[in-house]
Amino acid sequence: MSYNSFGHVLRVTTFGESHGPAIGCVIDGCPPGLEISPEEIRTELARRASGKSRHTSQRREKDDVQIVSGVFEGKTTGTSLAMLIENTDAKSKDYENIKRQFRPGHADYTYWKKYGFRDYRGGGRSSARETTMRVAAGAVARKWLRINHSVEIQGWLAQLGPIRTDAMMDWESIEHNPFFCPDPKCVPELETYMDKLRKSGDSVGARVNVIARNVPAGLGAPVYGKLDADLASAMMSINAAKGVEIGAGFESVSQMGTEHRDEMTADGFLGNNAGGILGGISSGQDVVVSTAFKPTSSLRIPCRGLDMDGKEVEIVTKGRHDPCVGIRATPIVEAMMALVLMDHAMLHRAQIG
Ligand SMILES: Cc1cc2nc3c(=O)[nH]c(=O)nc-3n(C[C@H](O)[C@H](O)[C@H](O)COP(=O)(O)O)c2cc1C
Repeated sequence: MSYNSFGHVLRVTTFGESHGPAIGCVIDGCPPGLEISPEEIRTELARRASGKSRHTSQRREKDDVQIVSGVFEGKTTGTSLAMLIENTDAKSKDYENIKRQFRPGHADYTYWKKYGFRDYRGGGRSSARETTMRVAAGAVARKWLRINHSVEIQGWLAQLGPIRTDAMMDWESIEHNPFFCPDPKCVPELETYMDKLRKSGDSVGARVNVIARNVPAGLGAPVYGKLDADLASAMMSINAAKGVEIGAGFESVSQMGTEHRDEMTADGFLGNNAGGILGGISSGQDVVVSTAFKPTSSLRIPCRGLDMDGKEVEIVTKGRHDPCVGIRATPIVEAMMALVLMDHAMLHRAQIG
């Protein structure tokens, strides 16, 4: 069985490990004639990159993406679109001490239980290095959606640990701080919090939201092809994702029907608790998804764990790690939103025309 691919008619396969020679992806099903350049993809990759501020992992990858197939004279040919990025800043010796140990909260134990063998260097395939290729593929989907449907996708950090960051939404400021925070007034508080956190050696969780505007009504299908089900699956497939909400999400639990139902008038819907999806099909409203990310599990603070012989050991993780993975997750959730929406737009066209 192989689960390195996702999507229905727009199918994305990724490959590569954190400390392997390269990572890459193959996009199958991309329509021909889309103008796309490595520079456009690099712009998206730079938004996701680590080492841009003191608040993220200090691994510095060039992410010098090469398009190795599927583009001729600057346009997609309709054949498999493949991209490749060399890993240039891996430090595998940092992982020597956990070669035979399982970091609590990471994928080490389950990979070993399943396969009986694992690439321990930087987490191997379980590393979020893989998400680089989702962002590369997402750049293609984003452009296609913009040209064909005027869809615009924007993500933001909604909460970091105890700090709620989106009570005030200043869309312009999201790209102008290291957190993708929409409220410039929260940025100094985030910096102070993260500086203290980094010194303590601990980590923290976060919530990242994403909105897609101008999504045409009609994307998604009953009953096993629901747009919200595919979005939830896509977001949950991101490393460290622990929860996904569509629209009002878990707040729906305490809402009354009269409050939740998004009344309709000739001028449009009066709310968007549905998050733009009804019956698994987009309504034409903004599609809104929220994803919870857990705190990073690789910590230099010692903890109790097991080694491969089942012996209790003290685990200390060395190396360069993100103290809050949510800080870098915004471009990743945007990419997953773009890939799912493009897939569903193409599916809709295939069935309905
Ligand atoms: C952008 C991003 C960066 C991450 N960086 C780290 C990291 O530096 N160290 C770490 O232990 N986990 C990191 N993670 C999380 C792990 O990849 C993840 O916890 C691990 O694969 C286990 O999978 P699970 O948490 O989904 O169960 C990161 C996740 C994301 C989305």
